[in-house]
Amino acid sequence: MHALEISLTAELERLAAAGLTRYRRLLDSPCGTRAVVEGRAVLAFASNDYLGLAAHPDIARALADGAMKWGAGSGASHLVSGHLTPHAALEARLAAFTGFARCLTFSTGYLANLAVTPTLAAGRDDAIFADRLNHASLIDAAQLSRARHHRYPHGDMAALERLLAASAAKTRVIVSDAVFSMDGDLAPLAELFALAERFDAWLVIDDAHGFGVLGEEGRGSLAHCHIPAHPRVLLMGTLGKAAGVGGAFVAGSEIAIEYLLQKARSYIFTTAQPPAVAAALVKSLELIQAGDARRAHLQNLIRQLRAGCADLPWQLLPSQTAIQPLMVGDNAQAQALAQSLWERGLWVAAIRPPTVPAGTSRLRISLSAAHTQDDVAALTAALRELA
Ligand SMILES: Cc1ncc(COP(=O)(O)O)c(C=O)c1O
Repeated sequence: MHALEISLTAELERLAAAGLTRYRRLLDSPCGTRAVVEGRAVLAFASNDYLGLAAHPDIARALADGAMKWGAGSGASHLVSGHLTPHAALEARLAAFTGFARCLTFSTGYLANLAVTPTLAAGRDDAIFADRLNHASLIDAAQLSRARHHRYPHGDMAALERLLAASAAKTRVIVSDAVFSMDGDLAPLAELFALAERFDAWLVIDDAHGFGVLGEEGRGSLAHCHIPAHPRVLLMGTLGKAAGVGGAFVAGSEIAIEYLLQKARSYIFTTAQPPAVAAALVKSLELIQAGDARRAHLQNLIRQLRAGCADLPWQLLPSQTAIQPLMVGDNAQAQALAQSLWERGLWVAAIRPPTVPAGTSRLRISLSAAHTQDDVAALTAALRELA
């Protein structure tokens, strides 16, 4: 072992002893509810493909056609020479769909989040107010800024109000997941918007798990909660979950988006996503918009799962979204339950710290419109048997 590797090995051993080693399962089939994983066929409840679009043939065809027409790569960042017609078309479609004046696209949601908060609140005189359960990318984004970082207890609007009232910051940015990625609950968006108005703050909303699923025609959590496309609001949505492809967008006012385009380092200093991906996403947006039947089916599956899990020894968290976490608590027990389901041909991810707080390890059951009622019945039957 090289001397440099000694401390790495010690940390890897510490993770293993705490039951926190992470493994990647190798998928040998397209993303879908029926998956071939490490040589066996399983029923999967693990992806974020909430509408079942990841392997949709129309999107795959748009991707292939896009590649034939526009080539494989964009060749540069958007501001150098990598901004192609499919990117512009996608931006325009996303702005119209979300109701905002303008939008920028990114290769990942992680990069999109890194673009917004530290650009709006860059200086030491600024302040960021973040829900404690925000996604890691929002936490990392705040750490890229010199602004003060206040974290309020999950969903606690009174605590947020106190922090805002006590702040003398020049620029205030409130930032929250819309649908919390590991809990599935919806942030109090109306209250967040009201506080942003009262304290003249920006409101940055990460709708990774609401876009495509919630709101009229899948327009997302802001539409679901009737929050207007106000100039103080910036909406981030990811395009690798319900949209089934990859990438992300930030939508906002003409000026806010121009400001990000000029200043956001994770927009400026990275190669634009392949234009074919943008072409595939235009098709995906059409399917999202026409996807009321998918969304209604998903809602039925959510109700079915919740009813089927009602009398288990583990509680489902109070989520009305496709993310249905079954709280176990202990790392090893969560892992063991996931393993027992796996042995029954059911793939559900066990989520452990640091992704969730210590003592709250859980199974993150992720439902998709591609599941059938029989699929959900198979999962609830297996959980009852294991209880
Ligand atoms: C709430 C939230 N924000 C942002 C991201 C990052 O998006 P992406 O996977 O496109 O980088 C994720 C998940 O990956 C997420 O769950």
